[in-house]
Amino acid sequence: MKDIQLNDYEIIFDDSLESVKDFMSAANYSSVFVLVDENTKLHCLPVLGKVISSYTVIETKSGETNKNLSTCESIWQQLIEHNADRKTLFVNLGGGVIGDMGGFAASCYKRGVDFINIPTTLLSQVDSSIGGKLGIDFKYGKNLIGLFRNPKAVFISPVFFKTLPQRQFINGWAEIFKHGLIQDQDQWQQYKEMDVLHTDMNDIVFHSLQIKKAVVEADPFEKGLRKILNFGHTIGHAIEAYSLENEKDSLLHGEAIAIGMICEAYLSVKKSGLTESELEEIKTVLLKHFPKYDITDFDTEKLLTIMSIDKKNEGATILAALLPEIGKCEYNIEISAEEIIESLAFYISL
Ligand SMILES: NC(=O)c1ccc[n+]([C@@H]2O[C@H](COP(=O)([O-])OP(=O)(O)OC[C@H]3O[C@@H](n4cnc5c(N)ncnc54)[C@H](O)[C@@H]3O)[C@@H](O)[C@H]2O)c1
Ligand SMILES: [Zn+2]
Repeated sequence: MKDIQLNDYEIIFDDSLESVKDFMSAANYSSVFVLVDENTKLHCLPVLGKVISSYTVIETKSGETNKNLSTCESIWQQLIEHNADRKTLFVNLGGGVIGDMGGFAASCYKRGVDFINIPTTLLSQVDSSIGGKLGIDFKYGKNLIGLFRNPKAVFISPVFFKTLPQRQFINGWAEIFKHGLIQDQDQWQQYKEMDVLHTDMNDIVFHSLQIKKAVVEADPFEKGLRKILNFGHTIGHAIEAYSLENEKDSLLHGEAIAIGMICEAYLSVKKSGLTESELEEIKTVLLKHFPKYDITDFDTEKLLTIMSIDKKNEGATILAALLPEIGKCEYNIEISAEEIIESLAFYISL
C-alpha cells in the first residue's frame, strides 16, 4: 500500500479501503456520520459498508446547485437530532461537492469536528480532497463562503471509478492535465499520448497528488505559489459559473477549466513566453478530450463581472496564472478585459 504524507495528515492508497476501519478503531470517536448524495449512497456506500459498521448516513441531493447553505443547515440539523458531539467523525463519501460542503459543515459544527475524505470521483481524488479548501456557493458566486481546514486522512481507491459516468471521469482529467502543465513537463508528455479511459489510474492519481501536495504545503493559504493551481481557472471559473446559471445541461468544472486553460495558454504566449508550438500542443490535447464547446452566446460583460469578483484578485485587477513554458507557471499576472476578450475569441475561432 502506498501513501503520501502531508504535514498533518496522510493520503492512503488502499483499493479495499480496509485501512478506513483501522483509522477509526485507532481513534476514539463517539459516533460516525457518513455524508453521501443519492449516487454515492447507491454506488459507494455499499463498498464502504463492507469495511465499517455503526454509522449514521446523512443524504444530500447531488449537484453543484445543492452545495449551499440550506443543505448545510439540513446536515447540521441531522447532526443535532442524532446528538453528535465534538468527538464525532464526519466522513465525506463523494465527489468535490460532498467534500467541499461536508468538510465545511463539519468544520463549523460545534466549532469543528474531525472529518475524513473518501473521494469517489476522479476530480476529487486528484484535486479537491486535499489542500484544505472547504466551502459552499453563495448567490454571488462559487465557493464564496468557506475556510481552510485539513481532513484527518484521505483514502483513495480506484474501485469507485467502476460506477463513475464516463463524462465525470474525463472531467477529472482536466486537473491532471493542469498539474502536468504547471509543474511537470515529463508527466504532461506521458499524458498527452495516453488512452485516458483505459489506463491504470493508481499511478496517475499518485503523481498528480504529489504535485498538488508540494504546492499546497509550500503555501497552504494561497499567499503566493499556490496560485499556480489556478491556471485555467480565472477564465474557466467564470465560464463554469455562467454556464451553471444560464444553461440547462451546464458544463462540469473540469470541462470549463479545459476551456479556461486554452484561453490562458493563449494569453501565456502573449504575456509569459509560451511558444506558439506549445500552445498548439496544449490546444490539440485538450480539444481531443474536451471537444470544442459553443460559447459564442456567452455574455462577455457578465463573464468579466464574474472574473472581477474572483477571490484570486487583488482589488479590481484581474489576475491569472500563466505558463512561461510547459511544466512551469507564474502567478499574479495582470490581464486586461481586452486580453480576456481576445483569448475568448481565440477559443471561439478554433
Ligand atoms: N476544494 C478544492 O480544492 C476543489 C478543487 C477542485 C474542485 N472543487 C469543487 O469540486 C466540485 C466538483 O467535484 P466533482 O467533479 O467531484 O463533482 P460532484 O461532486 O458533483 O460529483 C459528480 C457526480 O458524480 C456522482 N458520483 C460521485 N461519485 C460517483 C461514483 N463513484 N459512481 C457514480 N456516481 C458518482 C455524484 O453524485 C455527482 O452526480 C465543485 O464544487 C468544485 O468547486 C474543489
Ligand atoms: Zn479546478
